[in-house]
Amino acid sequence: MSLVTFKEIFPQARREKRAVGAFNVANYEGALGAIRAAESEKLPVIIQVYMRLFHSDKGADLAGTLLRMAQRCNQPVVIHLDHGESIEQVQKALEAGYSSVMYDGSRLPFEENLRITATASELAHRHGASMEGEIGHVAQGDDSVLTSVEEAIEFARGTHVDALAVSIGTAHGYYHTAPRIDHQRCQELSEALPELPLVLHGGTGTPLEDVRKAIEHGICKVNIATEYMDTFLKSTRRELEKLDGKFLPVDKMMDPVVDDCAAHAARLLRFFAGK
Ligand code: 13P
Repeated sequence: MSLVTFKEIFPQARREKRAVGAFNVANYEGALGAIRAAESEKLPVIIQVYMRLFHSDKGADLAGTLLRMAQRCNQPVVIHLDHGESIEQVQKALEAGYSSVMYDGSRLPFEENLRITATASELAHRHGASMEGEIGHVAQGDDSVLTSVEEAIEFARGTHVDALAVSIGTAHGYYHTAPRIDHQRCQELSEALPELPLVLHGGTGTPLEDVRKAIEHGICKVNIATEYMDTFLKSTRRELEKLDGKFLPVDKMMDPVVDDCAAHAARLLRFFAGK
C-alpha cells in the first residue's frame, strides 16, 4: 500500500468509528516495530517524529529510512511531523518527504494560531501532504486547556486542516493521577464538526475505556509516545542485562527489542480499530 496521507485513511475511519495509532519514533527499530504491527494486524499506521528531531538533521535524515519502510509496507503508512513549531520546520519536513505535518500553535493567542496554521496548511497541501492543527492545549502536566466548540469551528473553517487535535482532559507523558476525560465536550466537538477527524494527544496511560468512548465521538488518531518509547528502553535494558558485559552485534541484540515494540503497537492498533 505504501506512503499515504490522512486523506486516504481518516474519512472511512471517522465513518466507521475507528482510530489509527500514531507512534512517535526516534530511530529505525521503533519505526520497524510500528511497521511490523501494521502488517501483522493488516491495519494502517502513522509513524510520527517529534519536532525536536528537527532542531538538528535527525528528522530529515530519518525520513530517508522511514519513506523506504513506508513504501515497502503492505499497509497504508503516514509519515508525520508531530508538534511542528514553525513554518520553517514544517517546510523542512515537507522537503524531506514527510506525507503529513502538524503545526502546533496551541499556546499562542487564537488569531495567531489560526493565521500560522492556515499558512502551514496551504504549504502542506501544495506539497500533497496532510495537515494537523491544535486548538485548546494538551499540556505536559496539569496545564491543559479544554477546546472550546466555538473556537474549534472557526479554527477548522479558517485553516482547512485535515485533522484537528482537541483537548478533552488528556496530558502528555505518564499521569500522576488518573485523567478526567470530558466526553461530553468531545461529543459536542464531534457533532459540531461531523466530517473532521479529531486527534487525541497524550495517549500514554489514558484508560482504554476512555479512549474507546472518545473514538466513538470522532477521535480518528490516537498519539502514543511515552509508553512506546519506554517499551523500547525497557527491552533494551533487559537485553543488555542478559549480555552481562559480553559482546553481541547490535542488530542481533535489537531483534527482541523490535519484537516487543511490534507487540505493543499491534495490541493498540487492534484496540483503536475496534478489533
Ligand atoms: P504521550 O507521550 O502521552 O503518549 O503523548 C503522545 C503525544 O500526544 C505526541 O504528540
